[in-house]
Amino acid sequence: MTLSTSSASMEHLLVCVAWPYARSGTHVGQIAGSVLPGDIFARYHRMAGNQVLMISGSDMHGTPITVEADQKDIPPSELALRYHRQMLTTWERLGITFDLYTNTTTENHVRQAQAIFLDLLKKGYIFKDWMDSPYCTNDRRFLPDRYVEGTCPYCGFVQARGDQCDQCGRMLDATQLLDPRCKHCGNQSVEIRATEHFFFDLPQFTEQLRQWLQTNKEYWRPSALNPALNWLKEGLMPRAITRDLDWGVPVPLPGYEGKCLYVWFEAVIGYYSASIEWAKRIGKPDAWKQWWEQPAMGNTSSARSYYFIGKDNIAFHTIFWPAMLLGIGGLALPYDVPASEFMTMRSAKSSASRGNVIWTDDALDRYGADSLRYYLVSILPEHHDADFSYEALVRHNNDELVATYGNAVHRVLTFVQHNFDSIVPVPGPLGAADNDLLDELRQAFDSVGAAIASVRLRDGMNTALAVARSANRYLDEQSPWKSLKTDRTSAATTMYVMLQVLNGLKVLFSPYLPFSSQKLHELLGYAGSVSECRWEPATIASGQKLPPPTPLFAKFDSPTT
Ligand code: MF3
Ligand code: ZN
Repeated sequence: MTLSTSSASMEHLLVCVAWPYARSGTHVGQIAGSVLPGDIFARYHRMAGNQVLMISGSDMHGTPITVEADQKDIPPSELALRYHRQMLTTWERLGITFDLYTNTTTENHVRQAQAIFLDLLKKGYIFKDWMDSPYCTNDRRFLPDRYVEGTCPYCGFVQARGDQCDQCGRMLDATQLLDPRCKHCGNQSVEIRATEHFFFDLPQFTEQLRQWLQTNKEYWRPSALNPALNWLKEGLMPRAITRDLDWGVPVPLPGYEGKCLYVWFEAVIGYYSASIEWAKRIGKPDAWKQWWEQPAMGNTSSARSYYFIGKDNIAFHTIFWPAMLLGIGGLALPYDVPASEFMTMRSAKSSASRGNVIWTDDALDRYGADSLRYYLVSILPEHHDADFSYEALVRHNNDELVATYGNAVHRVLTFVQHNFDSIVPVPGPLGAADNDLLDELRQAFDSVGAAIASVRLRDGMNTALAVARSANRYLDEQSPWKSLKTDRTSAATTMYVMLQVLNGLKVLFSPYLPFSSQKLHELLGYAGSVSECRWEPATIASGQKLPPPTPLFAKFDSPTT
């Protein structure tokens, strides 16, 4: 059962995951929306032999941090760093394989963000102007975007924030809000005062963005492409990219003390600065370039960047960041922006600022990484909003993971233990049913791989699960427990075939369920990491000794809360 080694040249894939705000935790909606899809995609491409760079970090500078640090009376830097460290623990528990998960307070990031600001300023893409800013007469200070809430001038949503409207997804300036309120003191004591700021001249990029977005984007999700094209049609406006704040990346010019770069302007730069930081850390300071520089003439090396984000971030990744990249010049624009829809949790919107959410760490405590990952993929909001509940998680776990995949594994491993001395048996000649199942397995490597590569992650997992289902059916039909007495070779053949299938399933599932794939790898008598297997069926040889089996998944009781 050897495989055609694909001659396709190695590809460079930049896997960008939206930078979560440093907060007291992530909720499962953020995991389903960006972190988990990015991880599955990265894991698959590594096994397929491609060069993956997967990066992200904590977005430390948002106003949520200053609000909370104010309340707790500690410096924002200390609070943000504490949350950043917690985040790293969560990624480890969840099996997220970032090549680098950094944060926006590093010296490297601050330097890169300031350099890009100065570069765009020098090139005439940034200009200075007076701006009307919301000022709270009660607190006597200019209010950062998220301290202001009001009514969206476009769609009428009453809880729009100063930076964006969560109902229609538009980027906003706080001064556009109708009936603005100060979130700090809760009063309607907001007036507009003039303050000097820098503006990013988005309209200069309109034509280039249109060209780009109208060329070969059939593979984009309409949910990301259509709003981007609409914003272009409506006309872009210059955006203020500095704020009156002392927590952030300082404006690198004398005379602007007390002003920082707008959090969005510097956070998106994180994709770039983190790539540079990664290269420095591995001791090859130029290595990042392979993922970022546009191929020179005659150079066929193809790098593709994927931005895994939630739909509330579409404008910043399809318009704002691409315009910045065009201004910088020489850096590749996003190849794809697979934006996710929202995930509701017990029917509450998943925006963490509004409470009533399910925290990732809580879900991990209860059910562990793979059961959570499995359930999140099975309801992944790729094209529609999804609703998360612990009841459904338990149902998916028990009815699919345990009953189908786990069951196939357990039936085979215990049978081999009891009847073949825990040794992979020597098969007889393979018949039609045997070959059919092995064919299905072989084809699944192509179809699951193609699904993941085109970011249809749910399809990919369902195809892998279909193989497990076929394997159970095959096992029932062959009934080796009956043939064992009369035709031991037939039972041996069935077990041999099933073991090949399990050995393939461990690979097919490993981007999705890395921990149980590792466990199955070991139950099949292998050492080392399953993530080092290649994305192809590999023969498990007759004679291989298997350790005593233990169940791959646990069944859960229906939750009481
Ligand atoms: N912190 C932002 C959010 O959670 C996302 C930032 S994505 C980035 O909405 F690219 F700008 F960092
Ligand atoms: Zn709106």
